[in-house]
Amino acid sequence: MEKMVMDLKFYKGKKIFITGHTGFKGSWLCKTLSMAGAVVTGYSLEPPTNPSLFEIAQIGKTIDSVIGDICDFEKLKAAYEEAQPEIVFHLAAQPIVRTGYEQPRYTYATNVMGTVNILECARLYGAKSILNVTTDKVYLNREWEWGFREDEPLDGFDPYSNSKSCSELVTHSYVNSFFKEEGIPVSTARAGNVIGGGDFARDRIIPDCIRASANGETIIVRNPYSTRPYQHVLEPLYAYLMIAQKQYEDKKYSGYYNVGPNETDCVQTGELADIFCNAWGEDAKWENKFMGGGGLTKLIS
Ligand SMILES: NC(=O)c1ccc[n+]([C@@H]2O[C@H](COP(=O)([O-])OP(=O)(O)OC[C@H]3O[C@@H](n4cnc5c(N)ncnc54)[C@H](O)[C@@H]3O)[C@@H](O)[C@H]2O)c1
Repeated sequence: MEKMVMDLKFYKGKKIFITGHTGFKGSWLCKTLSMAGAVVTGYSLEPPTNPSLFEIAQIGKTIDSVIGDICDFEKLKAAYEEAQPEIVFHLAAQPIVRTGYEQPRYTYATNVMGTVNILECARLYGAKSILNVTTDKVYLNREWEWGFREDEPLDGFDPYSNSKSCSELVTHSYVNSFFKEEGIPVSTARAGNVIGGGDFARDRIIPDCIRASANGETIIVRNPYSTRPYQHVLEPLYAYLMIAQKQYEDKKYSGYYNVGPNETDCVQTGELADIFCNAWGEDAKWENKFMGGGGLTKLIS
């Protein structure tokens, strides 16, 4: 792909609708866009209690924050109609693999019907650029050593990953059935293993490291020898902003994008835990707790 450059000035004055704005990535995205002078409306569930980046960074003060369920179509539709956005970033999701195993129906309802609902809003009220944020787990896992290409089969293994594959397929159908004809550019962005300040979620390696070390406990690393495309939150955000801008300006940029570091920048989870322990100092240490066997232990890293 040609080298693309993003200019945040593009977003000044643009009307933006972000689902999932109370979450980790959503809060960073709101902050970036409001600093760029965009007019942002967010639609999500309440921020998590204690702690939450949304509250710490006081995101609600700089955007129009609507609290609602993405499955409540009437409420979502009303918020969308009121906002009349030009650009839509869809991030709202149940994003945790383990929760997907515990609550598969909820995960599918949120991740699949949530996508239908936001795309339906765009179909009814219009948009000039839509980005659906999915994950690198959307692919059928063929245990290849190095990554996936965008045209590989979509068939995530566990309920979370699979619901995101479905979210991709819903997007493809809306593109083929409606948006192509209406001239609305839509992309999906498949990133994974994002790290950065303000992530307090369960089963994520850096928050797990901090929680354990702050309590004087040994960090449990489930798959220390798995190589993962770890990336700082500003990296996928940069890609999301660039894709949304580029396809707004020229529809040829709409498509399906993998978002991740170069192969040489991927590290094993154990190496990341080592980096953490060196930086934390004191008595920080980790141990390997791979239990083998079941899909869940294999999939959570
Ligand atoms: N963080 C990562 O490493 C990572 C990796 C791959 C993909 N993703 C994707 O990026 C997106 C954002 O992830 P995150 O890490 O910021 O997660 P997060 O849990 O911090 O945020 C999720 C957001 O979705 C909202 N949400 C959840 N269920 C909802 C519902 N029923 N109705 C309305 N809003 C709802 C939450 O309120 C929150 O604002 C998700 O789509 C996730 O699947 C994240």
